[in-house]
Amino acid sequence: MDWNRTTSLITGASSGIGLEFARELAARGSRVVLVARDETKLRSLAAELVAQGAVEPVVIPMDLSREESIAALKRETDARDLRIDALINNAGFSNHGAIAEIPSEDQSRLIRLNVLAMAGLVREYLPGMIERHRGTIVNLGSIVSFHPLPTQAAYAASKAFVLSYTESLWQETRGTGVEVLALCPGVTSTDFYKTLGKEVILPKRTPRMVVVTALRALESDKMTVVDGWLNALQSRWFPRIVARRMFMRLAGAIMGRMYR
Ligand SMILES: NC(=O)c1ccc[n+]([C@@H]2O[C@H](COP(=O)([O-])OP(=O)(O)OC[C@H]3O[C@@H](n4cnc5c(N)ncnc54)[C@H](OP(=O)(O)O)[C@@H]3O)[C@@H](O)[C@H]2O)c1
Repeated sequence: MDWNRTTSLITGASSGIGLEFARELAARGSRVVLVARDETKLRSLAAELVAQGAVEPVVIPMDLSREESIAALKRETDARDLRIDALINNAGFSNHGAIAEIPSEDQSRLIRLNVLAMAGLVREYLPGMIERHRGTIVNLGSIVSFHPLPTQAAYAASKAFVLSYTESLWQETRGTGVEVLALCPGVTSTDFYKTLGKEVILPKRTPRMVVVTALRALESDKMTVVDGWLNALQSRWFPRIVARRMFMRLAGAIMGRMYR
């Protein structure tokens, strides 16, 4: 995809991987539409990008975990006459704890953001892309898209949904001019763990590495990509060779030691 003169809508652009997508796509000549809840952070990113010579970004502060936000965002981009060429469905978070203990509303909010907002935005923007025979959709999965994760059960299940949905979408859009990618990072140094309220004691990759991996994967028409070979080994291949019950016992033991 030649990003020059395109328009890219990036959810969760106020920090981490989404922010890095914004920097990279803006540097390639794409006009970026920045969506997240924190308007101050979005405006400061927009100013940074303009200072670097980017096309004036569009800032749309919005809480995507609210059901009505999906249609509202589409109305807003239509009202501003924005033709969305690329949708980077990146906003997401995890909570931590046993299912029996996590407040029900926190679990619902996670599912509304990680699952319903992701699929809702695809449904809003895909028809226009198909009509124009041009478009890119990147959905943020995770290494936990490939296996369950005790103490982050809803999160892992939400990312399994993202992977399954995106791979179906990849096949459905063959020959339409729309490219689709499930991007699955492993532990990456962002605010993700601050939101989780935990510190992870594993080596981290950077948001920039994740974005470079995604852009390379798009160039080679991959359906799914895991960022980092070690992440690919442990998430994609290891769960396939170990019995499920054994894997879950190991996952439970590792999760007990992985966070401070
Ligand atoms: N970091 C990792 O280790 C890792 C690993 C695998 C997958 N991922 C995935 O990568 C994606 C990006 O996460 P990150 O690591 O970059 O974490 P991050 O730094 O915490 O960024 C999350 C982004 O999502 C936005 N967001 C959160 N709740 C939102 C809401 N209700 N409405 C709109 N925007 C919302 C946040 O902005 P506001 O707070 O301003 O709304 C922020 O911009 C997520 O889907 C995550 O699941 C991360």
